[in-house]
Amino acid sequence: MTAVRISDLALDFTGTTTVRALDGVDLDVAAGSSMAIVGESGSGKSTLAAVIGRLQPKSAQIVRGELEVDGIDVRSLDHDALRAYRRDTLAYIAQDPIGSLDPTMRIGAQLRLVLRAIGDDDGLPRQLALLESMRISDPARVVRLFPHQISGGMAQRVAIAMAMCRRPKLLIADEPTAALDSQVREEVIRLLFTQAREQKTTILWLSHDLPAVARWCDEVAVMYAGRVVERGPAAAVLGRPVHPYARALAATDPSRARRGERLSSIPGSPPVLHGEAEGCAFAARCAHRIDACEVVRPDPVPPRHSLCIRAAELGEADRRAGLVPDEGVIV
Ligand SMILES: Nc1ncnc2c1ncn2[C@@H]1O[C@H](COP(=O)(O)OP(=O)(O)OP(=O)(O)O)[C@@H](O)[C@H]1O
Ligand SMILES: [Mg+2]
Repeated sequence: MTAVRISDLALDFTGTTTVRALDGVDLDVAAGSSMAIVGESGSGKSTLAAVIGRLQPKSAQIVRGELEVDGIDVRSLDHDALRAYRRDTLAYIAQDPIGSLDPTMRIGAQLRLVLRAIGDDDGLPRQLALLESMRISDPARVVRLFPHQISGGMAQRVAIAMAMCRRPKLLIADEPTAALDSQVREEVIRLLFTQAREQKTTILWLSHDLPAVARWCDEVAVMYAGRVVERGPAAAVLGRPVHPYARALAATDPSRARRGERLSSIPGSPPVLHGEAEGCAFAARCAHRIDACEVVRPDPVPPRHSLCIRAAELGEADRRAGLVPDEGVIV
């Protein structure tokens, strides 16, 4: 079963200048699996997540492409169907945990609203159980607090509890742990992935934290300039990348691969597109560039759907160099 099926999705932000944020995204996510989306700042991760939830601003125009979640054609939903989709199918966790909670309501009241909306028991014991499921100690005290009275790590756990109690088919998490310190981050990620596995929720996790992605996610999609340039099993894509950009990304010092930072291992910065990229958008920075890269728009090369006209050749060179011991290892 495929939970998310995206094909050739292109999107422009219009205004004084037009920015092509998605330039033909192809992505399939298996139901119940976890897919990380990685890539430099500006590569289009948040835009993609927003479109999946139909949360993009009015200035965003979908140029072409298909987008299906759990068999639902997201682009064609009318007002009521969109509400039902957001209530029954999708949950979204943003980067800023405290900002995602209502500052004027106590935690308990917010939990009650969420539980009531899904027709669940909204009484105090259920609220406390929900907080306990997120390893929040002293939940009886926490339900009486306002969001500004709890820590960022606690707020993120509350936000995750509110998202997961709806048993969403798909959870989109846009760097939900970027603001947390490393020990709390690991604990929050563990709780999130454990609950998702129990509930068979599909996870789409946008992240710059490659070591955590390698530890927790089944698959990885690498984005560059609004396209998924390589995807496949996390260990394979991060351990033996084929696409030159995926290679550069996987080789970065993880402590530097933070939000907003450029990759130090490759010169230059990603382009801002104003329309469809002619040729390969990475060509200007690529150590393996040939003349054709500037003009030939790359098609996906199996097995990793690598958007590089030299992917087969580069993979073969790795094999000859003994970097990939066995053809069967690349999945
Ligand atoms: N509301 C908007 N209006 C105009 N352009 C936008 C808007 N949101 C994003 N963009 C542009 O779209 C492109 C993709 O941005 P996006 O926020 O999706 O990247 P990202 O991969 O999530 O980056 P980060 O890692 O910094 O979160 C960028 O060029 C960005 O400047
Ligand atoms: Mg983003």
